[in-house]
Amino acid sequence: MADIRLDGVAKTFPNGPVAVRAIDLQIADGEFLVLVGPSGCGKSTLLRLIAGLETLSAGRIAIGGLDVTEVPPQRRDVAMVFQTYALYPHMSVRDNLAYGLRTRGAGRAAIAREVAAAAAALGIEELLDRRPAQLSGGQRQRVALGRAIVRRPKAFLLDEPLSNLDPALRVQARAELRRLHRTLGATVVYVTHDQEEAMTLGSRVAVMRDGVIEQVAPPLELYDRPANTFVARFIGTPAMNLLPAALILDDAPRDAVAGIRPQDVTVGAGPLRATVDLVEPRGPDYVVHLRLAAAGEPLLLAVLTGTAPPAAGTEISLGVPADRLHLFDRVAGRRITRT
Ligand SMILES: Nc1ncnc2c1ncn2[C@@H]1O[C@H](COP(=O)(O)OP(=O)(O)OP(=O)(O)O)[C@@H](O)[C@H]1O
Ligand SMILES: [Mg+2]
Repeated sequence: MADIRLDGVAKTFPNGPVAVRAIDLQIADGEFLVLVGPSGCGKSTLLRLIAGLETLSAGRIAIGGLDVTEVPPQRRDVAMVFQTYALYPHMSVRDNLAYGLRTRGAGRAAIAREVAAAAAALGIEELLDRRPAQLSGGQRQRVALGRAIVRRPKAFLLDEPLSNLDPALRVQARAELRRLHRTLGATVVYVTHDQEEAMTLGSRVAVMRDGVIEQVAPPLELYDRPANTFVARFIGTPAMNLLPAALILDDAPRDAVAGIRPQDVTVGAGPLRATVDLVEPRGPDYVVHLRLAAAGEPLLLAVLTGTAPPAAGTEISLGVPADRLHLFDRVAGRRITRT
């Protein structure tokens, strides 16, 4: 296993967009790092650069302390699993798992041992004699991961590997991935556009936008202390409310943005008056759309629990605990840190 280090990594496609702009990132040995961000922000490109499947426009990449910037993909000793994992349809699961080892000239006994270990780690021992067409989507997914595991690479690079699974299977596959990561102690870089998946999987999460990493931090830190309004709205559902505010510092008002998570709004007491616009039951809680009685009647979302939500049309008071209020600069969108 190995750490991964990116220094000023950039990629501009010929006649195309700037996909990745001067990214510095250090991924520790054994870390599970998730790259998350909206479609087109450069996640797959960054992963492919680490794998060696794209050439860099600028910067250096080191894996396990070795500069691999000029090293071809097959000699970087990383395993990449794509969203559209292609298994060999005419081969059994066993042969699919063994294929990579065979082409590298591994011995019969070593191959059998590695295949058995990977099958056990993934719980697919009973499937070894089946063909891919005889497997469910989740099982195929596991075989694709198994092929990466038997190679014992320095790092796993996974690009939306669970996106073909239905929601229930995804939750299960996610838990399995975490368990697997714990067992193997492997370095993993995992791409997803799903913030919930990012939060549940990552030991750290890097939020990308337009080829740049906006913030990289452990999941709860991203949630509790987003570095800017983009991260603030990208992480958490429903998205954080952002309201124009004036911050009075040393008697001088400064244009700011107040960020309020819907879960932090308290109803029943507080300085703000609002009218209930709409109530959406979600099962365990309600998303309540509120129209503030302030100028312009801005909308505010609140997530409320309890048995009886306020009815549409009623007027209520609400507040936000001061320590749950986020403040951002109005122009740059950067978090204003309070001392
Ligand atoms: N081979 C290519 N040639 C030209 N432009 C490309 C190429 N591959 C990607 N791009 C562009 O680079 C940018 C980043 O693409 P990338 O595939 O890395 O995004 P992504 O974050 O993985 O998005 P998604 O979530 O949709 O998979 C996009 O604007 C994309 O159109
Ligand atoms: Mg992608």
